[in-house]
Amino acid sequence: MTSSNDIRATFLDYFARNGHQVVESSPLVPRNDPTLMFANSGMVQFKNVFTGQERRSYSRATTAQKCVRAGGKHNDLDNVGYTARHHTFFEMLGNFSFGDYFKEQAIAHAWELLTKDFALPKDRLLVTVYSEDEEAPVYWKRVAGLPDSRIIRIPTSDNFWRMGDTGPCGPCSEIFFDHGPSIPGGPPGSPDEDGDRFIEIWNLVFMQYEEGPPGTRVPLPRPSIDTGMGLERFAAILQGKHDNYDTDTLRALILASAEATGQDPDGRFKVSHRVVADHLRAGTFLIADGVLPSNEGRGYVLRRILRRAMRHAHMMGSREPLLHRLVPTLIRQMGAAYPEIQRAEALVTETLKLEETKFRNLLERGLGLLAEESGRLGEGGTLSGEVAFRLYDTYGFPLDLTQDALRSEGKTVDVEGFNAAMAEQRRRARAAWAGSGEAATDAVWFDLREKVGASEFLGYSTETAEGQILAIVHEGRPVESAPVGAEVAVVLNQTPFYGESGGQVGDTGLISAGEACRIVVRDTQKKLGDLVVHLGTVAHGEATVGLAVQAEVDHGRRGTIRAHHSATHLLHEALRRRLGTHVSQKGSLNAPDRLRFDVSQPTPMSDEDLAWVEEEVNARIRQNSEVTTRLMTPEQAVAAGAMALFGEKYGDEVRVVGMGADPDATEKHGIYSLELCGGTHVRRTGDIGLFRIVSEGAVAAGVRRIEAVTGRFAETLVEEANARLREAAAALRVPPAEVPARIAALLEERRKLERDVAELRKQLATGGAAAEVETINGLRVALRNLGEVPARDLKGLAEAILKGGTADVVALVSTAEGKASIVAGLGEGAKGKADAVTLVRAAAGAVGGKGGGGRPEMAQAGGPEGGRADEALAAVRGVLAG
Ligand code: ALA
Repeated sequence: MTSSNDIRATFLDYFARNGHQVVESSPLVPRNDPTLMFANSGMVQFKNVFTGQERRSYSRATTAQKCVRAGGKHNDLDNVGYTARHHTFFEMLGNFSFGDYFKEQAIAHAWELLTKDFALPKDRLLVTVYSEDEEAPVYWKRVAGLPDSRIIRIPTSDNFWRMGDTGPCGPCSEIFFDHGPSIPGGPPGSPDEDGDRFIEIWNLVFMQYEEGPPGTRVPLPRPSIDTGMGLERFAAILQGKHDNYDTDTLRALILASAEATGQDPDGRFKVSHRVVADHLRAGTFLIADGVLPSNEGRGYVLRRILRRAMRHAHMMGSREPLLHRLVPTLIRQMGAAYPEIQRAEALVTETLKLEETKFRNLLERGLGLLAEESGRLGEGGTLSGEVAFRLYDTYGFPLDLTQDALRSEGKTVDVEGFNAAMAEQRRRARAAWAGSGEAATDAVWFDLREKVGASEFLGYSTETAEGQILAIVHEGRPVESAPVGAEVAVVLNQTPFYGESGGQVGDTGLISAGEACRIVVRDTQKKLGDLVVHLGTVAHGEATVGLAVQAEVDHGRRGTIRAHHSATHLLHEALRRRLGTHVSQKGSLNAPDRLRFDVSQPTPMSDEDLAWVEEEVNARIRQNSEVTTRLMTPEQAVAAGAMALFGEKYGDEVRVVGMGADPDATEKHGIYSLELCGGTHVRRTGDIGLFRIVSEGAVAAGVRRIEAVTGRFAETLVEEANARLREAAAALRVPPAEVPARIAALLEERRKLERDVAELRKQLATGGAAAEVETINGLRVALRNLGEVPARDLKGLAEAILKGGTADVVALVSTAEGKASIVAGLGEGAKGKADAVTLVRAAAGAVGGKGGGGRPEMAQAGGPEGGRADEALAAVRGVLAG
């Protein structure tokens, strides 16, 4: 038997041999098409290459593309399980020519691969062509030798392939396999074409036009080729089966489901096993590509798929969550071709388990209600929209789950009634909100939120994506368009821009649509929790609702924001380890150029604490371990040891970000830091680069603030410190390493010099006493101008002279700093005969000063005119002489 893995490899090898670049499957969430929910064919990732907007280094490519057809325009969900060829997830094999070869070569390749490499019997193959295409039949005859009877002309749109309402398109030719007359069914185009005898295996699209607004179709710059072969149905043919679910990969999953539930794979739960097998594939691949179950957009499609599978698991009597137990089988089957599911195994397993555990209780109770209500309906009856809505609202039953449950009883749901009940609930929510007193200015956001729904945030995995403008607010009001220069708030259906929250600042960047429009985004905010609002200016053209745009985050800025945010997590954990678990987050800012983190901590941190914390964070950065994100309930997250913010309101599910390895830790699964966080982070801790603390200080009683930087900002900090050190070393004329020793030596030298100077001054003031003492009115008087001696030394010197006993009266003047300071003192012999205060006042008068004070025995004064010190002494002499 040719396995699905062999078929995929043979296909890609064939085209690689024939000059095609083997290109990886694009993710299921399209990056370049805002109108598409999931990648639904191989050409999606090449859309802009066909139209000439984008150039690649190759002009031929081949892929095995993951596709999901659920939720969007192509929705196969309802049929899955009940038919042989419907899937929510499937693989499309394709070859592409971008203006390289065209029809003839495409047909030649397809024919050679099918009949040689895959050795299909030629007489079992037939083709369809578009009736207006005169070339294709000629080539089919020439290349494949097909007779006219096996070239069927189809006049309908079945043979004119369009990607969507707009985009590349062209006539196509489909290749069919004939299972032979034993199977019922007619050839394509015949009334009973829907039978299983003739199965389409490959669609060759001759891309020739680009469809614009209705009625406009222009030729592509160069005719191109896009082909698509469904791997599952092709495998069925090569493996001799009529049913895709009997092929190797899906059969393995069905057997695993049978084993886990103890139910016969082909017995009465045949449909349920198929649903489980298909939905497990869709769920696993979507989660691995970053979609997580939610109540909006893509996340809700995923949730609908998973819950539909869970009901079938429940029907089969599975008492424990089932889906996650089948993941290893899927990874064994497909992990080699799609390593992303291998890498995401833990995330997938946990997400599936969580979703199933949460839903289990509700499911049982909801099914009870459904059984009761449906029991009241007659055969072929219709369940009221109101009950379907109650099941949705109270028990989390997506509408299609209810429809699926009623299907086996031949009953349906009143969908209109369901929609009316939904609208009524929205109206009530709005009335309740309007009464809750929130700022009226936000009413505009409430209206918009209701109209356009939550914005889908793509920024965890990409910083560039296409989106569609859903709303524009200008001067406080929603508008249909805004001209150049207008300040606008723009809402897209999906965006890579992060709206400010959780301490992380909003993204900046560019929203553009070629020459038509360019909006410079200077901030991004969140409104009502999940509406992402881009604030900016229309810099070129005109912003218009409905426009498809390219949204590009300023990558450099986001990169350093991510580094600061991840460093904050490491810092938080390091602080707790150093200071204790009382440390908890009180506030944080993650900006492009720095981080600020406030924590509860009563006392200042010592230099040793800071150094320890800094080194600890840097050690975790050097570990370069992967940063992981998982989705859990808040309870599970806390049980796993994740740090949550007290008093913060969390939803049903939270993102838990883990980083750093801590193999010795017994808790937290050996992860160093585990935190509830909705922010964006680096991929590996090493991406943070260097971490440096800039400052630590108090912000409020019991709260300390740490400011820190990472990456090049930390490097700049280090460079600046180095530059200062080099400058100091140059001034000291020593190598930088010797600066501290040199400074210590200089300080020691300075202390010694100060001691020497003091001693010398004392000698200068007191020395040679006899010679310099004059006698005035019978008193021995010492009058000295001490020049630069500091004024604060004068009193001590005067006392020293008096103590020496050589004078009865002392008057000293200092002219340090250009001013005159005077001190006068009296010894025992002068008491009652003179007054120090009078002496200094007279002296002060001579140097432009006023007043003076002290006691009769010791007083001081001063004046601005240091140059007149000798006149001051003369004034003292004058007073004493009387
Ligand atoms: N894009 C073409 C299809 O999906 C090949 O059928």
